Order: sequence, then structure tokens, then C-alpha cells
Amino acid sequence: MNKTVEYFKTNFGTIYHGDSLDLIQERMKDKSIDLIMTSPPFGLVRKKRYGNVDSNDYVNWFRQFGKEFRRILKDSGSLVIDIGGAWIPGLPTRSLYHYELLIMLCKEFGFHLAQEFHWWNPSKLPTPAEWVNVRRIRVKDAINNIWWLSPSPWPKASNRRVLAPYSNSMKTLL
Ligand SMILES: C[S@@+](CC[C@H](N)C(=O)[O-])C[C@H]1O[C@@H](n2cnc3c(N)ncnc32)[C@H](O)[C@@H]1O
Repeated sequence: MNKTVEYFKTNFGTIYHGDSLDLIQERMKDKSIDLIMTSPPFGLVRKKRYGNVDSNDYVNWFRQFGKEFRRILKDSGSLVIDIGGAWIPGLPTRSLYHYELLIMLCKEFGFHLAQEFHWWNPSKLPTPAEWVNVRRIRVKDAINNIWWLSPSPWPKASNRRVLAPYSNSMKTLL
């Protein structure tokens, strides 16, 4: 019996409820998917006794997804990961876990970095308050990283779908 259940369906598609890894393993064929867009849990990082964060834990956890994502994506497909950074617990410095994730996916599973984006979110809370509001030695975090990865260097894409009008200053320049 399937672990994932059909939750909602229209002519445009179906929403399933369940663990995404089960869903992929139960229902998705090799090289059948155009786009995987995910916002996985962020920053599952632990502090070691000597202070740094074991980002290996996060990267290890993600390997099972990397393997399946690579299997089901078409060569022309895309994997888009929205991922926030994390502070090293107890220190005013940042974890590198999301960069290590990116490098692991490219080196171990042969993904290409088509492009990186930053989601600018000025509404993020000023955490950790200790560094931002109390000691005032850091500014608040305001972005998520978005990694656009692809099994081949040529994922299907067209920037004509996201064109924006020229600004007045650009028109003046032209
Ligand atoms: C960082 S949150 C995403 C936040 C969301 N993008 C938003 O902006 O509100 C991660 C989400 O992934 C879900 N999640 C974690 N592991 C999962 C899995 N194996 N399958 C499906 N969802 C999972 C969590 O329940 C959580 O809602």
C-alpha cells in the first residue's frame, strides 16, 4: 500500500500528502520530471563541543533526496532549492551548510549550478537578538539563497517569460 495519499485533484494536477521521499519513490519514474521546487527545512545544524556546526549532518540527510531528485529529473529539468542560512549556535558567525549542500549536489550527483538567486525578505526577524539587538555587532539577516540546479548545463528555460519593462533611467541611457 502507498504511504502517500492523494489529497486534492483538478484537471491541472494533484496534491499528495505525505513524506516527499516516499512520494518520489512510490510514484515517480526515472527522467520524468521537469521541475522540482522545494523549500526544505533550514539549518538543521548542531553545535560541536569545540564550537563549530556539524553541517555534515544536514548534507548527509539531504543525500537521500539528491539521489532521488537526480533519478527523476529529465535532462532538461530543473531543481530549485530555496534555503535560508543559519547562525552557528552561540557564536556571531554563520554556518556554511547551505554552500556545502550546493557543492555536494554538484560534486556527488553531477548537478550543474544554472544560476543562484537571492530572495530579499526585509521582514525577517532580527535574530539572534543577542547579536543584532543587544550587542549590536551584526545586522539582521535579510535573504534566502535559491540554488537553481540542473542535471545538464542546458535546462529548459526562457527569460522571455519574466521580462520587466525598462526603467526610466535605462530608457534615458538608451
Ligand atoms: C523551511 S519549511 C518550508 C517553509 C515554507 N517554504 C514557507 O515558506 O512557509 C520546511 C517544510 O518542509 C516540511 N518537510 C520536512 N521534511 C519533509 C518531507 N520529508 N516531506 C515533505 N515535507 C517535509 C516541513 O514540515 C516544513 O513544513
